[in-house]
Amino acid sequence: AQADTFTPPSFAFDEIKAGADENHHLAEGYDALVLLSWGDHLGKPKEDAPFEPLKQSGAEQSDRFGYNNDYIAYFPIDGSSEHGLLCVNHEYAEATHMFPNVKSLKDDTNRDSVDDDMVDVEMAALGVSVVEIKKLDGKWTVVYGSPLNRRITANEPMALDGPVADDEKALKRLRTKDDPDGRDLRGTVANCAGGKTPWGTYLTAEENFHYLFWTGKKDANRDARIEGEHTDYPANYRRYQVPKRGTPWGRKYAHFNVDEEPNEPNRFGWIVEFDPYDKNSKPVKHTALGRFFHEGAETVLSNDNKAVVFTGDDAKNEYVYRFVSDGTFIDDESKKAENMALLSAGTLSVAKFNDDGTGEWIALTPQNCGGDRQSGNGWFCSQADILIDARLAADQVEATKMDRPEDVQPNEKTGRVYVMLTNNVERNASTVNRANPRANNRFGHVIEIIPDNADFGADRFTWDILVRCGDPDRVELGAYWNAATSKNSWFVSPDNATVDCQGRLWIATDQGRYWQQTMRADGLYALETHGIRRGTPRMFFRVPVGAELCGPCFTPDGETLFVSVQHPGADGMKGYCDGRTDSKFDCSKEASFANPATRWPDFQDGMPPRPSVVAITKKGGGKIGG
Ligand code: FEO
Ligand code: CA
Ligand code: CA
Ligand code: CA
Repeated sequence: AQADTFTPPSFAFDEIKAGADENHHLAEGYDALVLLSWGDHLGKPKEDAPFEPLKQSGAEQSDRFGYNNDYIAYFPIDGSSEHGLLCVNHEYAEATHMFPNVKSLKDDTNRDSVDDDMVDVEMAALGVSVVEIKKLDGKWTVVYGSPLNRRITANEPMALDGPVADDEKALKRLRTKDDPDGRDLRGTVANCAGGKTPWGTYLTAEENFHYLFWTGKKDANRDARIEGEHTDYPANYRRYQVPKRGTPWGRKYAHFNVDEEPNEPNRFGWIVEFDPYDKNSKPVKHTALGRFFHEGAETVLSNDNKAVVFTGDDAKNEYVYRFVSDGTFIDDESKKAENMALLSAGTLSVAKFNDDGTGEWIALTPQNCGGDRQSGNGWFCSQADILIDARLAADQVEATKMDRPEDVQPNEKTGRVYVMLTNNVERNASTVNRANPRANNRFGHVIEIIPDNADFGADRFTWDILVRCGDPDRVELGAYWNAATSKNSWFVSPDNATVDCQGRLWIATDQGRYWQQTMRADGLYALETHGIRRGTPRMFFRVPVGAELCGPCFTPDGETLFVSVQHPGADGMKGYCDGRTDSKFDCSKEASFANPATRWPDFQDGMPPRPSVVAITKKGGGKIGG
């Protein structure tokens, strides 16, 4: 890292207008191509295998691009920025928009309108897609049928490694009827953001896994029932919000039913690694990075060449984490197997942000966490138990509870790290602190960390708030931006972030249903971090109504930007119709498969909106953003 010796250049493009309609919008002078959409077959071109939304099955879906594309990473082939593999996460299923006749979740508490066949489609629609892509005559195309194309789903066999896999006592907490050993896992789910390692592998982060766990018991008081039914794990279940009754998978498959398999939730919430260049690479769940609602996992190197992974825990009042490997990275492609062991052993730490602008990474070790003085119920005696119950362990070291930590983005050019804190309506006047300064924080903020000695591996740092989000003209909201910020370009709820090849920060937003208050669709913003423009955002791309933006990803040459448009049409439409005459959407009903607020990107009758990856290039070539 070269902290403070490098100043990124400013952005040079004209902002787009804030607002919301059925289509996407992009800065002038750029082209957007919809490259991959939910349901696209990865083995055959569209003409030979059209997506037929009324004829879905789990078997079909497992060969097709999944639903709700999120994080994206580009892996060059032969170093090219015009030929490579795209790894794309698929975060969750949106049954109301995937299938006809599914009731809204709030009207269907038992999820009975999602039948067992739909469960199989959902399980095949999550996970990861690996897709070979190539630029032909200046236009990105998918290499259908490439031997490297791959779908990883909720059914994919996975391995387990790290301290939990090596600890027979802790491993008991992962054993199930299907897997009496505990290291033979099945599936990855809730794949939100992720990362790309310096050794050329993909990391996918398991985030909101809790809502996939079913219980047949209908007690109104969830906590009391859990205390009674699962006496081994009351603290674990409570802290991880398991079970959530969010999907009907457990009605069909016992391993997602906690009444049958109370250990199964301990098999999710991990960082998963595989090699996208090797179709036989078995994904590994790395327990050394801890178990929580991992937003992502961005990897850089410390000054002594250890792997440093930053990862947020996306829930209200949770923590920011950092993993530092024991081993050192070998900069030699022939040593990939050795490098792939780096995430198997190391130190997981949690961030403490002091009010004086300093901070530290506190290691989660039995010594720091108070040994077994806690509950005496077996969850806290060893390093393995600490990792399974990372949230509970972090509570013991007085780390700083944050406003929903999403992406934690290191910038290798400047040596700084950016923490996206998306919002936290549970923050109140008695819990505000300098790092989380607003009660009822609806809008989120971005923290900048400067590691000591310009070393991502240093245990101490200084930090400051780069921006507090929201409308700067409404003084009562307490937003903080550069004074040059325009009416179009202030934003709300930072989620994913990336850094381009010139060291500049880009932030994608996810307001969730709160967009119905701002009436501004989510999008991608360039944010200045240095010089007199520091803290000035500029809006580059806007999603269609009801979507969020995820996964901004640049090719190494900075000339292509891939973005994920997730859940178009699905994120609440209250107020969207007011005064609008250009929409076929029946605003008197909820948005759904049959009555979508947009049919982006196909705009064909009968075709529901499809989450898609968009490839953005500059007209005539050149770097994105100027
Ligand atoms: Fe899946 Fe935290 O966004
Ligand atoms: Ca996210
Ligand atoms: Ca990122
Ligand atoms: Ca989010």
